[in-house]
Amino acid sequence: MKSDSSYLSYLSLTLIVMEKFFVDADISRARTISTEVYKSAAFFEMAKEKIFAQSWQFVGDTDMAAGNGSCYPFTLLEKYIDEPLLLTRDENGTLHCLSNVCTHRGNLLISEPCSTSNLRCKYHGRIFHLDGQFKSMPEFTEVKNFPLADDNLTTLPLFQWGKLLFTSLNNNYDPDVFFKDMMERVSWLPLQEFNYRHELSKDYYISANWALYCENYLEGFHIPFVHAGLNAAIDFTDYTTELFYPFSSLQIGISKTGEDCFDLPSSSIDYGKKVAAYYFWVFPNLMFNFYPWGLSINIIQPVTVDSTKVSFRSYVWKKELQNTGVGGELDRVEMEDEEIVQQVQKGIRSRFYKHGRYSVTREKGTHHFHQLLAKFLQ
Ligand code: FES
Ligand SMILES: [Fe+2]
Repeated sequence: MKSDSSYLSYLSLTLIVMEKFFVDADISRARTISTEVYKSAAFFEMAKEKIFAQSWQFVGDTDMAAGNGSCYPFTLLEKYIDEPLLLTRDENGTLHCLSNVCTHRGNLLISEPCSTSNLRCKYHGRIFHLDGQFKSMPEFTEVKNFPLADDNLTTLPLFQWGKLLFTSLNNNYDPDVFFKDMMERVSWLPLQEFNYRHELSKDYYISANWALYCENYLEGFHIPFVHAGLNAAIDFTDYTTELFYPFSSLQIGISKTGEDCFDLPSSSIDYGKKVAAYYFWVFPNLMFNFYPWGLSINIIQPVTVDSTKVSFRSYVWKKELQNTGVGGELDRVEMEDEEIVQQVQKGIRSRFYKHGRYSVTREKGTHHFHQLLAKFLQ
């Protein structure tokens, strides 16, 4: 009897979740996703495992561990997923992404970037090779069945595009389904020549849910209303959105004047267009903005249900083009986006707002994102 009632309550909860997160695949009929996504602490927590742990996340680039013996500790999605990880380059030059937690009693292994021949825990002296394999441990000769496989550091997958590195906590999806379409579209760009510029990179803190920030990014519909400067530089009528199923999309900004656009090779599918910017989005929280000067990667990091850290990471290709074109005013555009997204965060709290509808011509990127949110949260 008890199991019947708990089964029924589980069933009713499942039906509530399915109803809340249903987004019609037909954009002309669809309503926007439930505002619970942006307001509910329970769904914010649920997204950790159901969305973020399933996806591929940005680690940094190969220059962070340039020489053999390099170790670079980092925290994946600090304050949210908060997973301590370690990028190493072993004596053969192979890169590894490892758990940065000692398999003895859980001490953090490495706290600062360093160069070393092995990883030695400062708590009781356990030593690991740079590929994460257990090497030695003092005072453990009497311990039976030791070492076992789980005495090695957990190894995470690494996916490399040019010098950019990504990892996945669960490794349930092939990285190709996230990145392949973007990589093919700009395959002519010499990504290895792009250099990270710390002084041009910046973190922004906004009072809004991470998904509101993403869905704003995914439509150019608001450009004429929110970004007067950007609107003066790009041709809104030629602004396009392409969906790459399943997990990414592309928006293309066409230059009004023809100045400050890419010098596209004839091999590019976009050859002949005055492309001022490629805005690639990769589910759930990565944005790759290619401008004639280089690449600005935006990493959208949830902090609380209504606050988000947005990290801009700049990789410069052509220094002389840095302050020109639509990619020259990123800070102002970001301020304009933050202001509107924070207003929306206040608006969706209203008891009178439950759902909206989508423009079929201008909001297919946002509709695609909402469908993915609905699918993963179910
Ligand atoms: S926690 Fe690392 S050796 Fe004990
Ligand atoms: Fe915007």
